Amino acid sequence: MAEMVITQGLTRYFGSFRAVDNLSLSIDEGDVFGFIGPNGAGKTTTLRMLATILKPSHGVAKVAGMNVATRPAQVRRVIGYMPDVFGVYEDMLVYEYLNFFAAAYAITGTARDTAVDSALNLTGLIEKRNASCRSLSRGMTQRLSLARVLLHDPKLLLLDEPASGLDPRARIEFKELVLALKALGKTIIISSHILSELAEVCNSIAIVERSKLVYCGPVDGAMGQVSAQGRVFNLLLREDGTEGLGLADAREFVRGLPFVDAVREGDRPGQISIRFVPGFDEAFRVNSELVTRGYKVEAFAEQAVRLEDAFLQLTKGIVQ
Ligand SMILES: Nc1ncnc2c1ncn2[C@@H]1O[C@H](COP(=O)(O)OP(=O)(O)O)[C@@H](O)[C@H]1O
Ligand SMILES: [Mg+2]
Repeated sequence: MAEMVITQGLTRYFGSFRAVDNLSLSIDEGDVFGFIGPNGAGKTTTLRMLATILKPSHGVAKVAGMNVATRPAQVRRVIGYMPDVFGVYEDMLVYEYLNFFAAAYAITGTARDTAVDSALNLTGLIEKRNASCRSLSRGMTQRLSLARVLLHDPKLLLLDEPASGLDPRARIEFKELVLALKALGKTIIISSHILSELAEVCNSIAIVERSKLVYCGPVDGAMGQVSAQGRVFNLLLREDGTEGLGLADAREFVRGLPFVDAVREGDRPGQISIRFVPGFDEAFRVNSELVTRGYKVEAFAEQAVRLEDAFLQLTKGIVQ
């Protein structure tokens, strides 16, 4: 599949501060790409470079094969950039607002009406056509902002933290909208500081932390990389008061095993969570050693890797 975005060694300084450090990404046509990282990681700066608003200090970024630094006008024609803070002209009606921007994109005549109607339809705002922009909820305002960047039928959408500040219902609707746009063949980059927000809609993600890329690849790959670093098992013991066979004793015993990486209290009473490095066979050894010593093992099961854990793990030691 063709690449829609490629960056190589993309770097941006503000004074002596490196806000984006040597970022190399590859995003295929048709991808819904999650760009994830805590606040200050450099997401907005990266998106602004792709949107040709900021110039890279070093490195290259290409959109649809065109260098953003040398062909900004052509790049702008194929992208729709929705910034993290968006203002709309509140005194306008919804269709007036879109009409205004369609004119700014030099879309004229009946093509302009078609572009406005199609953007309204796509974003589910057709009934709000004659509403004043001021009367819209945050979710609707955001849809309007998205409708605006759809007017010129861009191939690539750059959406900066689109789900922040939305209520749960608006978030679900937003995800549906993203999937509808994907079905139209658009490539979509969505940034967020919350991983779970993107997991369901993205097929590929990049995790950035302190200006640097920590992971880039499929969502499943992020989880696989984490389980390769060790597996977490939850052990549930039945305590019957027998001296030396309590939970605290079990914890001490397990902690003493050479292949055990970390032991902590589990989420439930009577439960211990154990991390093994690297693998699997050891889990069965823990189980059999405990049973041999007389512990009553009620349950011993691997904990599925959750995306949030993957994120924490991949950025371990870097997050403050
Ligand atoms: N115009 C600017 N001038 C100086 N520093 C900036 C500017 N824009 C962003 N930064 C700094 O660059 C870092 C990355 O910012 P940003 O790209 O907005 O991160 P994110 O979107 O991931 O929260 C932050 O430390 C921020 O303060
Ligand atoms: Mg940002």
